[in-house]
Amino acid sequence: MSEPAGQLDTVMQESRLFPPSAEFSAQSRIKSLSEYEALWNKAAADPSAFWEELAKNELHWFTPFTETLRWNEPYAEWFVGGKTNASYNCLDKHVAEGRGDQTAIIWEGEPGDQKKLTYAELLAKVCKCASALKSLGIQQGDVVSIYMPMTPELAIAMLACARIGAIHSVIFAGFSAEAIAERNNDAKAKLIITADASWRRGKALPLKHTVDEALKKSPTVKHCIVLDRVNEAVHWTPGRDHWWHDLMRQASAECPATPLDSEAPLFILYTSGSTGKPKGIKHSTAGYNLYAKKTFEWVFDHRAEDIYWCTADCGWITGHSYVVYGPLSAGATVLMYEGAPNAPQEDRFWDIIERHKVTVFYTAPTAIRAFIKWGDHHVTKHDLSSLRLLGSVGEGINPEAWMWYHRLIGGERCPIVDTWWQTETGGIMMSPLPGAIATKPGSCTKPLPGIIPQIVDASGKEVDAHHGGWLVMAHPWPGMLRGIWGDDERYREVYWSKTPGKYLAGDNARRDADGYYWIMGRIDDVLNVSGHRLSTIEIESALVSHPAVAEAAAVGRPDDLKGEAVAVFVTLKSGQPNEALRKELVQHVRKQIGALAQPDDVRFTGSLPKTRSGKIMRRLLRDIAAGKESVGDTTTLEDYSVLASLRQDEE
Ligand code: WT7
Repeated sequence: MSEPAGQLDTVMQESRLFPPSAEFSAQSRIKSLSEYEALWNKAAADPSAFWEELAKNELHWFTPFTETLRWNEPYAEWFVGGKTNASYNCLDKHVAEGRGDQTAIIWEGEPGDQKKLTYAELLAKVCKCASALKSLGIQQGDVVSIYMPMTPELAIAMLACARIGAIHSVIFAGFSAEAIAERNNDAKAKLIITADASWRRGKALPLKHTVDEALKKSPTVKHCIVLDRVNEAVHWTPGRDHWWHDLMRQASAECPATPLDSEAPLFILYTSGSTGKPKGIKHSTAGYNLYAKKTFEWVFDHRAEDIYWCTADCGWITGHSYVVYGPLSAGATVLMYEGAPNAPQEDRFWDIIERHKVTVFYTAPTAIRAFIKWGDHHVTKHDLSSLRLLGSVGEGINPEAWMWYHRLIGGERCPIVDTWWQTETGGIMMSPLPGAIATKPGSCTKPLPGIIPQIVDASGKEVDAHHGGWLVMAHPWPGMLRGIWGDDERYREVYWSKTPGKYLAGDNARRDADGYYWIMGRIDDVLNVSGHRLSTIEIESALVSHPAVAEAAAVGRPDDLKGEAVAVFVTLKSGQPNEALRKELVQHVRKQIGALAQPDDVRFTGSLPKTRSGKIMRRLLRDIAAGKESVGDTTTLEDYSVLASLRQDEE
């Protein structure tokens, strides 16, 4: 028998539980499960009152707001009538309150060069950069594209836009000229900020050259600011191109933050949908700023002495919320690193943690799986005892990868916050509060205060603990997207049409008997085997629990008998694939999660195709499994990175 549409079977069993140490909890902001539950219940009883109180206390208001939430589904306005400024909240507020000498950014370039900026120094640079933007005619409401390496100047550029009400659109500095032009044109960007080049594994990536190509097709962009990062020779278009250092030298140091309406757009960030052109996800000033700040403090349990490192690039939402706006609003010391994790060696991250005494480390499962593959010896030669808390974001983390992270990096002492959220949500939605919630490997545990998730089937009915379904949000929250830039129709269609009144996240999830949430993958990726709907992540996690496997992807392939057969793609930690191992993996999955989920096809591959943000591209693998994409002899070791590069402009 098949389940109601939208509902999923679950086959995974995971019973390990890791409570925080009493010592960790005692020093935390939220110290116990009951304290968390009291806070969550209070927020759920009256979300508006909950956020109203926080907004008043946590942000600087030039003009106080008069209405907390105006909800005309699917459009939310938060803190209506108020005026604030995200750049002010991240900088001036700390300086005004006497924290100007505290380190804001510790930066390390890939070649090993370093810079430190205090909050006062960062403020001074942001003021000059904002003045420079004004001198080139940028005004409130104008869109500025940013295509830069992970340098302090990237954060400075973002905060300079925020300061004067210009809307930044950061484009990850790995995208092609075509992708930049598409984003410039959709947003009608007036100016772009870039660098001559960026360091990546010892090579200079020519960013300015790529921007030059993009600007041939970006008629709205009138100016280009160029940071001299690498000392590369660049083509120059006089009148259009300006060196960052020249502008900064000439710019006025005076540039007070503009009081902006709460709902003034702070930024747009393009994210690729599964089909069609990228969506410009629009975020607001006050609601986003508050949400990034509070979720940063709660989830990373922020303490004044922390050295906090989020490895995400500012080209992604994680970099916006948890490199720039969240931690800087909270007055944290943020580490920023420009380059690759394997430059010059595979131990670069552990070397950075040891030298800078990083206390909180936040990275992605794709990186963790690479570390596992590279080998433990890169880790064990470093002293990681400064770490107290670890985080994960971007994909589900397979329980065995979680255990490795816990043992090798966390020394079995650091809680792991597996944070579930999206570009659209602005900030973390579900995650352990590390002093309060015991963790289960592979679960993002519980919703943050003020967040009310539900799991429903296609008719909107809530499903029980034994089944998965669609993850929706039953109440608006301050960090939510305010729409898709220039496309209201698509905004309504994608997020609000299938589950009226509730935000549809596009992921499947399950809530267990303890109220813990388990993300089961994208709705579009579900496998339908003999009438049973199976999640990708459960099959993948079963494979990754085999000692030979580094990484796995599961997809459905059309099958006459079963509807869909289970096809899996596997990369090994080391060694060569062989027939015996293939059989062993099939049996392993069967033993772990049952015959239903047993793979029909096992294909070994040197690497899996990934998006630029590091997510496995199951859609592409589905085509390969169905024979739609010619990949030659599928019984041998293949490297799908070539295929992935053919689709390079997918996010
Ligand atoms: C999608 C959002 C959130 C910032 C980075 C990605 C997947 C994200 C988790 C997690 C399982 C996760 C979901 C989500 N995802 N975090 N902890 N466990 N899945 O932002 O590019 O907008 O992607 O990433 O599928 O919907 P994004």
